[in-house]
Amino acid sequence: MKIVVIGGTGLIGSKTVDRLRKQDHEVVAASPNTGVNTITGEGLSEALAGAEVVIDLANSPSFADREAMEFFETSGRNLLAAEKVAGVKHHIALSVVGTDRLQENGYFRAKLAQERLIKESGIPYTIVRSTQFMEFLNGIAQAGTVGHAVHLSQAYVQPIASDDVADAIADVALGAPANATIEISGPERFRLSELVARYLKSTGDSRRVEVDPEARYFGARLDDGSLVSDNAPRLGRITFEQWLTNTPRK
Ligand SMILES: NC(=O)c1ccc[n+]([C@@H]2O[C@H](COP(=O)([O-])OP(=O)(O)OC[C@H]3O[C@@H](n4cnc5c(N)ncnc54)[C@H](OP(=O)(O)O)[C@@H]3O)[C@@H](O)[C@H]2O)c1
Repeated sequence: MKIVVIGGTGLIGSKTVDRLRKQDHEVVAASPNTGVNTITGEGLSEALAGAEVVIDLANSPSFADREAMEFFETSGRNLLAAEKVAGVKHHIALSVVGTDRLQENGYFRAKLAQERLIKESGIPYTIVRSTQFMEFLNGIAQAGTVGHAVHLSQAYVQPIASDDVADAIADVALGAPANATIEISGPERFRLSELVARYLKSTGDSRRVEVDPEARYFGARLDDGSLVSDNAPRLGRITFEQWLTNTPRK
């Protein structure tokens, strides 16, 4: 089967490409670095010719409100139009658990717009919403940093390792379209503030975590249920401790 992975050079994309190639599928890792650009359209129709499955794992180079919206809308429109011409039978995209609960933030408005375009496209699809990647904890810490303190809510979080995300995406790509949204999540639940404190300590980072119920998550207010799945998620196997042990950091 020919499978095109848009964003196939990224964190999740490259791991997904590896998994599918090991199962002997013809896999195209499509991204600007390999000559395929969903914004300009460069190389898109050539990459999609003969493809049965397209997995969209691209991310916006900017998380700023307007840029993220422009990216996901333009990329989504161009990609879905090219898939119609190519006769693609299954479109898969990776989104975020709680996207609809985090609409104070422009990036999540853009992810919801991406999901809407897929649902309205008429192409059979599976949207996979994931909780935060363990690899994203550094980004969360950065976003909450003021001076030498990291301001974070104590809302629940259930992070997932990128290897578990790629396993799930590869499985979805080889199955039938759900024409629905499914969710994936890590195996353990933590308080966000405690998790980031553990992460910082493990990297020898001396910033202290200040628990602040009012602290925004990339501009969005959190409650205990904002970031965790309430939709019978598929659970990853890799625990936070295992990930810490096996992942080289900074
Ligand atoms: N971070 C999280 O915790 C989290 C949680 C749930 C879901 N997600 C979602 O997961 C997805 C993948 O994230 P990631 O961290 O794996 O991304 P990433 O490592 O930043 O990779 C982004 C990929 O997008 C590609 N790309 C950028 N502009 C493109 C364009 N114009 N046309 C085609 N490809 C383009 C990049 O290609 P080049 O290498 O060529 O630039 C790269 O391959 C995102 O959609 C994100 O919303 C993230």
